[in-house]
Amino acid sequence: MNILLVGSGGREHALAWKIAASPRVRRLVAAPGNPGMAAQCELRPVSATDVEGLVALAREIAADLVVIGPESSVAAGLGDAVAAAGIACFGPTAQAGQLESSKAFTKAFADRHGLPTSAYAICDSAEQARAALDGFSPPYVIKADGLAAGKGVVIAPERAEAEAAIDDAFGGRFGAAGARVVIEEFLEGEIGSLFALCDGRDSMLFGWAQDHKRAFDGEQGPNTGGMGTYSPAPVFTPQLVEQVRERLVEPTFAGVAEEGAPYRGALFVELMATKAGPKLVEFNVRFGDPECQVLMLRLESDLVPYLEACAKGRLAEMPQPAWRDEAAICVVLAARGYPDKPAAGGEIRGADSDFGPDVVVFHAGTRRDADGTLRAAGGRVLNVCARGATLKAARDKAYAAIARIDFPDGFCRTDIGWRALS
Ligand code: GLY
Repeated sequence: MNILLVGSGGREHALAWKIAASPRVRRLVAAPGNPGMAAQCELRPVSATDVEGLVALAREIAADLVVIGPESSVAAGLGDAVAAAGIACFGPTAQAGQLESSKAFTKAFADRHGLPTSAYAICDSAEQARAALDGFSPPYVIKADGLAAGKGVVIAPERAEAEAAIDDAFGGRFGAAGARVVIEEFLEGEIGSLFALCDGRDSMLFGWAQDHKRAFDGEQGPNTGGMGTYSPAPVFTPQLVEQVRERLVEPTFAGVAEEGAPYRGALFVELMATKAGPKLVEFNVRFGDPECQVLMLRLESDLVPYLEACAKGRLAEMPQPAWRDEAAICVVLAARGYPDKPAAGGEIRGADSDFGPDVVVFHAGTRRDADGTLRAAGGRVLNVCARGATLKAARDKAYAAIARIDFPDGFCRTDIGWRALS
């Protein structure tokens, strides 16, 4: 098969690594990809939101399948355009993608379909949002409605901080994404990320992991897109997984189909395991980043038949995926200043070393100079991932590899996996 993989982050590098290992693949092209992905794919400089350019590229390479990595491509309508071009596509339509592209839409969708989630208020002005705070107790959860690369969420312990976050959003910090704000009840519990595939009709669960959203050790600092993940995560007991399937996954796929936008692709359910059972935190309409990285390390089955089955409505023919009976961890190396003002261009040495068979370094935000020097070109720069018989063994391997990477402008959390290890 010929496959076009869209995106350029650590998630897409992990997908490329797993797709390239499939005996079914003849040609794998990534657009735009990143320097690390050059080891698995041909790279073509077409942006992930250039819908016309991507459809033309898919035609040029006679793609049998287009795999959409990021939410920005979904929101730009790539899934619709690829399907209209008659090419199989792993990734939902823009209409189904509203589950991620508008938090207000998702809250209303949750109400319509009885999904357990937190209380909320949708606000279209700073005045309305400040007044709405009266209906909530601290800590206040303030979210930009639209896509903000994981940076549009503020958890404010004090009212003054909540009001500042409201002013920031309406002041244009997130552009159009912050023109509407959702204030939410703070949920007590443990966070989890669960993935499900759907082919428009049939669905199956496709792994789970735990992410660390805060920038610094001990769950301190600003919210980020994710600083590290591990799988399996003990929070996902068989009972919790079953509850998430019954209460969140199945009613969601049924709901989008009923509303005329059947879902094709991966749905990422970010949930809080509360005393009252799982509650929806938010949906994402793609694999998680950096959750995908640990899932790909643990996935024993060939990924490609699952992607193809989703795109072609044949998921019912697929067996449950097989997972390695090992733990996997991903530690994000970020540029100093991330998530607010990541230092650009810092030199990185040693990322391409051989760290042994259980360690893989995925590129997330890198660029390579003409002389071969690798540099930071984003907030999250590298994902150092490892597998081991236990989470501790995997963690030790990942941090041993990090010790050998010279990135003076970078930082990472040193406590990824602490909940499971403590
Ligand atoms: N790690 C969270 C996300 O992918 O949005």
